[in-house]
Amino acid sequence: MAADRYGVMGYPVSHSRSPVIHRLFALQTGQDIQYELLQVTPDKLETAIRQFQRTGGKGLNITVPHKTEVARLVDQISERASTAGAVNTLTFREGEILGENTDGFGLLRDLVVNLGLGIDGASILILGAGGATRGIVGPLLEMEPTSLRIANRTLDKAKMLVEHFSDAGPVSACRFDAVPTDNRYDLIINATSAGVKGEAPPYPGAAISPRTFCYDLSYGLRPTPFSVWAREQGAARSVMGWGMLVEQAAESFRIWRDVRPDTAPVLKQMSITA
Ligand code: ATR
Repeated sequence: MAADRYGVMGYPVSHSRSPVIHRLFALQTGQDIQYELLQVTPDKLETAIRQFQRTGGKGLNITVPHKTEVARLVDQISERASTAGAVNTLTFREGEILGENTDGFGLLRDLVVNLGLGIDGASILILGAGGATRGIVGPLLEMEPTSLRIANRTLDKAKMLVEHFSDAGPVSACRFDAVPTDNRYDLIINATSAGVKGEAPPYPGAAISPRTFCYDLSYGLRPTPFSVWAREQGAARSVMGWGMLVEQAAESFRIWRDVRPDTAPVLKQMSITA
């Protein structure tokens, strides 16, 4: 019997590490799967997904820039994905498309399990108010931080997110230059796309104390601009989002195969432990 088919769909997608990660998971758990890299432009998204489904595909990871758009195409959406307004995992089952979002779960698992950080009672600052932020605010608030501030270049976007999540916990919004300097944060998360674009915004350095843990959702083989900056500001630790990448993939794999892979050796094997 042919191996079950999975893949990652995005544009561009050639640098995605998902095929390597899922192949390592499959090897480790003895699952017979095939995992493809699918480069699809936004105008072809729906056609490509329907074709993958029609030809017997079992599941897809969805990445930039399709995560929001694909939410419109699913038959059933999970609560996590609906709150995030974005889908990163599709499962094709009995003629239906199920949409899930494992990004927030992946981040929390990396922070709490891999890095040993306590979120309960923490004061958190998120930089950026785009899709990446929207995906992580809900899961972070569930861990009951004391406060969660969203700082963004464009204040209105941060305010809109605060409105969306205000019933879920103590969220507030401000501009980068208005981050209170008297309130040092336990955790600062960079969720802007500035580093990816090679830009270095004026991150609020005064928000960092020697006990601040800094986490960049972006990752690279070399340190990201934010992670370098955080270290220079004297943060307790400065970590890139490799762990989140592997953990969100593990959760997708679990949803598809009903087996939870051990992420530690995969993180190590990719030589990317922070
Ligand atoms: P994503 O889905 O990756 O979050 P997005 O929705 O385009 O992408 O959001 C990008 C985020 O990075 C936004 O918060 C954006 O700030 P604005 O809302 O002001 O546009 C932020 N960002 C991108 N480049 C930036 C830069 N050079 N300086 C500051 N913020 C930047």
